[in-house]
Amino acid sequence: MSAPALPEFSYTTSATGTDWLVIGLTEAGLVGLPTDLAKAFEKTYGRDAATLARELGARPKAGRTTTLPAVSGTRLLVTGLGDADPTPEKLRTIAGDTVRALVGLADEGETVGVTFALDISEPEIARAVAEGALLGSYTYRPVSGSEPKTARIGSVRVLFDGPKSLAAEVTALVDAVLTAREWINIPPNLLYPETLAEAATDYLRGTKVKVEVLDDRQLADQGYGGLTAVGGGSSRGPRLVRMTWSPRGAKKRLALVGKGITFDSGGLNLKPGDSMLTMKSDMSGAAAVITTMKAIAEAGLRVQVTAYAALAENLPSASSYRPSDVLTIYGGTTVENMNTDAEGRLVMADALARANEDDPDLVIDIATLTGACIVALGTRVAGVMATSDEVAQQILDAAESSGESFWQLPIPEEIDEALASQVADVRSTTGSRWGGALAAAAFLHRFVDGERDWAHLDIAGPSFNEGSPYGYTAAGGTGFGVRTMVEVARQLAG
Ligand code: BES
Ligand code: ZN
Ligand code: ZN
Repeated sequence: MSAPALPEFSYTTSATGTDWLVIGLTEAGLVGLPTDLAKAFEKTYGRDAATLARELGARPKAGRTTTLPAVSGTRLLVTGLGDADPTPEKLRTIAGDTVRALVGLADEGETVGVTFALDISEPEIARAVAEGALLGSYTYRPVSGSEPKTARIGSVRVLFDGPKSLAAEVTALVDAVLTAREWINIPPNLLYPETLAEAATDYLRGTKVKVEVLDDRQLADQGYGGLTAVGGGSSRGPRLVRMTWSPRGAKKRLALVGKGITFDSGGLNLKPGDSMLTMKSDMSGAAAVITTMKAIAEAGLRVQVTAYAALAENLPSASSYRPSDVLTIYGGTTVENMNTDAEGRLVMADALARANEDDPDLVIDIATLTGACIVALGTRVAGVMATSDEVAQQILDAAESSGESFWQLPIPEEIDEALASQVADVRSTTGSRWGGALAAAAFLHRFVDGERDWAHLDIAGPSFNEGSPYGYTAAGGTGFGVRTMVEVARQLAG
């Protein structure tokens, strides 16, 4: 289970030696065309690049691209920048759209090198353009013997004179997001709890993150009743991956918990066929926490982090758990299971209960938890539910600066009360159709002890793009959540 190949990437001060040079266009004119190329252009074509671009129909509309004739062996692509002063997130989107346009312009099977010349002076902008271009370069390459037909981006350069460390930071972050996407896209007959746990171990080898894997027997012996029940219907048993990053000088402790259902059929409460088709993506939260750990370690963030990936496959069989079963979660809380398709909260309960033992200052859990969250917020916005508005704001701020979109939802007391059970400490759903995302959050909160700060991220919508690619978002797995969690860790590291 290898990680996807990242284009070669660097910041550079030279616009030569690239197949394509991308320059910008605003209402005010062209942005970033190096003076020597501008001169050579005028000499070759008898008018300046801005004039010809206009004649060829180039417009400043964000993401609109226009090809100019080549100069000194470099092909020029003009990309609209929209406003004169686009935000980092706008630029991420424009850079993503631009590399995808380039892939469309290239020949089948070609490997393309691209350099962005956008007259960048701020590191924040340099970072955004690189992230957008690199993330936008990714497509999942299908499992097949034949060579891929589409062109691929082989190298990305961004003209910017800044600190060396920036390129390494961007590379680490992008590698994490793209690896999460790749794991999400791998079909579930190939990626299941055991193989995802192996992939996590391989991925983190060579870093200072310690990885421990509990297998199905250890989970059962140690009382992880959620993972054991949910994973019990599959011949491919559950796993709990625990990852620890303990840098010197860390003052704060963070715990991350990810839902890792490698395929969610619904179990005995079987999903209709159509709803099952995308359920290989039900491990997106786990993928995000694993890859986030590597990005945190590579950046050397001075915050102590423990992460848990709760892995199971939810299938119906003679050994499946049932609606009305009573399960004992790690730590002893009993749960009346209402519906085997509400499996995510059960595996998350085990992992959250275990995470308390690390005594974290903040717990973040991330899960493709409810269809109800998609009904509420659509497919591109994730829900955040937290122990306080301050904690929610911490997530919203980190998300804002990393370019991910979240919206806060409440955890109303009456919904928590509706989780009362006649036969166990709590039941897994309220039994009502309404407020499903909030009920799931209320349930999870029961497994975070005391007054501990906690945020629950429901990424059911934005984790998987069922439509066409847009901006820097590919079709399929998106790697949503990685950028926000790395940013929260960065804030905690101070
Ligand atoms: N994995 C699903 C949630 C989901 C749905 C994610 C669509 C992405 C797209 C989850 O396990 C589930 O099935 N939840 C149920 C809960 C219900 C039975 C209380 C749901 O949302 O319908
Ligand atoms: Zn389910
Ligand atoms: Zn699920």
